[in-house]
Amino acid sequence: MSLTSLTEQEQTVVPQAEGTEDRLCTYPVHVVGIGAAVPSDRLTNQALETMVDTSDEWIRTRTGIRERRIAPAPLASSDLGFAAARVALEQAGVTPADLDEIIVATVTPDYQFPSTACLLAARLGLVGIPAFDLAAGCSGLMYAIEQACQAIRSGSRRTVLVVAAETLSRVVNFHDRRTCVLFGDGAAALVLQRASLQDEPGILATNLGSDGRGAHLLVVPAGGSRLPASSQTIAQGLHYLQMSGSEVFKFAVRVMEESTRLVVARAGLRVEDIDCFIPHQANVRIIQAAAERLGLPAERIMVNVDRYGNTSAASIGLALVEAYQQGRLHPGDVVVMTGFGTGLTWGSVALRWTAPPPTPEQVRTLVYQATAADAAEALGTPPACPSPLPGESKNGV
Ligand code: ACO
Repeated sequence: MSLTSLTEQEQTVVPQAEGTEDRLCTYPVHVVGIGAAVPSDRLTNQALETMVDTSDEWIRTRTGIRERRIAPAPLASSDLGFAAARVALEQAGVTPADLDEIIVATVTPDYQFPSTACLLAARLGLVGIPAFDLAAGCSGLMYAIEQACQAIRSGSRRTVLVVAAETLSRVVNFHDRRTCVLFGDGAAALVLQRASLQDEPGILATNLGSDGRGAHLLVVPAGGSRLPASSQTIAQGLHYLQMSGSEVFKFAVRVMEESTRLVVARAGLRVEDIDCFIPHQANVRIIQAAAERLGLPAERIMVNVDRYGNTSAASIGLALVEAYQQGRLHPGDVVVMTGFGTGLTWGSVALRWTAPPPTPEQVRTLVYQATAADAAEALGTPPACPSPLPGESKNGV
């Protein structure tokens, strides 16, 4: 049946059947390493006041954002992803040679092709394993985690590196006050690993969904096969992100609540069992509205949008890393991550935290501060050359 023949009623989003992933569930999957990277350059609200007709007061009260990180040229998404991956691999005590697959969630890849995942694999010195990008907007990390989980649960992979890396500043129009105040750059990485069959599960449940009827609400119109880049598309600013903010706002609040309730039920838990709720960091008002509907108290909700803005796929991972650094995740805690994004898409992951509390050294080093020098180093690195493993501390982190 073609999509155009669907009636309005048939187009209603149908919840996925309960327990579908349970049938595939074999090996328990654990998060064994996490890391993040942000550019060292900050763009404050005060600096934006000099660029567009806005105010620190408007941005803070409407979004909760105070500053965001902007990648200096020629730093690209793969550079941030690589830095985050090194931190996560080091924390996991895993070498690149142990990896069976790399998945990169991004809507701001270095190139249309090749994939950012292949660039990353080459920088990690890896040839031969599957590496692919996944585009699900700000839900990208949730999608990538589920893909990795399914591969590990089924027994076809043992250790998977999941990276979410974005340089939204490259597709934001810094003359458009409605969007340029919202977004920032950053990356996060997770190492997921198979545990033995007798072990308790780390990842408890996932829930993903999409509704392409809202595709027009958040879009970069030009640069794809529909509207290839040309001098006209550039003159019209069609290579920049365009968004219907209030529509996305309403959608976000609704799906964050619904997806969270669903993933918690699939995990056999109640919303009250959530110890740490890590929502996509787009707007503090969206987070508060969703949390209120769920009845979650403020102390269980992780918020860092004030310092990074919306880093799309990277945002939930960046918040997870910070929650861990801040000592908010304890062994046995129930952690629920949930996001929404362009597509439209949504996704949630429920997990039981199994890593030991961070050491003082990890508190200091889990978020890497990337500089343009990192990109210069990458540009000078021939592809597929073994890269130095995590270990040496750079930029004082
Ligand atoms: N500074 C000052 N005024 C502004 C600014 C600004 N930066 N931006 C908009 N305004 C003005 C508007 O022009 C409008 O003025 P008008 O009434 O004279 O026309 C007024 O403020 C109100 O605008 P609204 O859009 O109604 O403001 P709202 O309260 O909805 O906040 C916002 C806008 C922050 C964009 C909000 O709707 C939002 O956060 N939406 C969700 C966005 C989001 O999450 N996107 C990411 C999706 S994830 C992904 O995949 C990347």
